[in-house]
Amino acid sequence: MVNKIGLVGGGQIGGVLLSEIVSRGLARKVGLVDIKPPALAEGKCLDIAEGSPVVGRDFNYSASKDFSALKGADFVINTAGVPRTKRPDGTMPTREELLTINLSITDAVAAGIKKYCPKATVISIANPLDAIVYRLYQQLGIKKNKLLGMAGVLDSARYRYFVAQEAGVSVENVEAMVLGGHGDTMVPIRSACRVAGMSVEDFISKAKLKKIEARTRKAGGEVVGLLGSGSAFVSPAWSALEMLEAIIYDKKKIIPVCTLLEGEYGVKGYFVGVPAVVGKNGIEKIIKVKMTAEEKKLFKNSVKAVTNTCAEVDKLSKITKKKAKKKVAKKK
Ligand code: APR
Repeated sequence: MVNKIGLVGGGQIGGVLLSEIVSRGLARKVGLVDIKPPALAEGKCLDIAEGSPVVGRDFNYSASKDFSALKGADFVINTAGVPRTKRPDGTMPTREELLTINLSITDAVAAGIKKYCPKATVISIANPLDAIVYRLYQQLGIKKNKLLGMAGVLDSARYRYFVAQEAGVSVENVEAMVLGGHGDTMVPIRSACRVAGMSVEDFISKAKLKKIEARTRKAGGEVVGLLGSGSAFVSPAWSALEMLEAIIYDKKKIIPVCTLLEGEYGVKGYFVGVPAVVGKNGIEKIIKVKMTAEEKKLFKNSVKAVTNTCAEVDKLSKITKKKAKKKVAKKK
């Protein structure tokens, strides 16, 4: 059990995280931050506290609209941001279209973490995932092993589920990895997909696998479309907890995570989904996975999508800085 876990955002994903952290007994204390009035964070915590005798878990919490509830947290999971929602005309925004709004939220989150728990290990879920993590890194001045983006666990779980369904076997038999960016260019690595240690192609035809992989890339959008408002929330929360527990219990588990690459996979200075050993020090080692020529090509294409969104981050932050300067000059 760790001393304190901080959660930023008490919405759909944050709510599941909170209840799971309590029922799994992961922390002595939880701090929940949410700006939503009248007092969403307080309300979510009180609801769970009142149920805690039923499940036999002591629940100590701090809840606030500002970031003070994070004080002293060892870990922070960030879900602050706007999720994807179907537009009235039936079309769907891409995760990248959330960038402008979620970027300013991210800057506030980074400032809050720096002020109240600068030593925390941070797992971020807000979208567009890879760009938000990139921005958090710029703002936090954190060691790279202590900042993890959650995407690969979820994308891989979706791939595993679809494969298990098609093969007619338990999800426990399916091992798979989806790498690259957390967008429509993500890359399901078929050559590394195993069913009880055997090649997935021994169980499912190439044509069907192609369809499964296409569905995996769009799986988040499929859920958004079905829900009508908001995006998937249980599976992202469980996926982030898989990462958190790997750290808390020092599992040394190989997990696909969005991490800073400094030359690995031919990428420098960007956060991209790759497999890594996750243990008490956060990201302990990046694992190089063998890919086919086609997978390498797709991975490169996915990295390109990530770097494009990060270029947009840099452009937007320049504009924000300019505006701030102008404001200061006007005041003078
Ligand atoms: N500080 C604190 N909380 C904030 C802030 C902020 N500056 N800005 C927004 N929030 C809160 C909102 O009030 C809301 O309760 O973040 C919460 C987000 O919850 P939901 O809207 O329910 O979104 P959720 O489905 O949980 O997804 C959160 O994760 O998967 C991504 O695309 C998704 O970016 C989205 C994020």
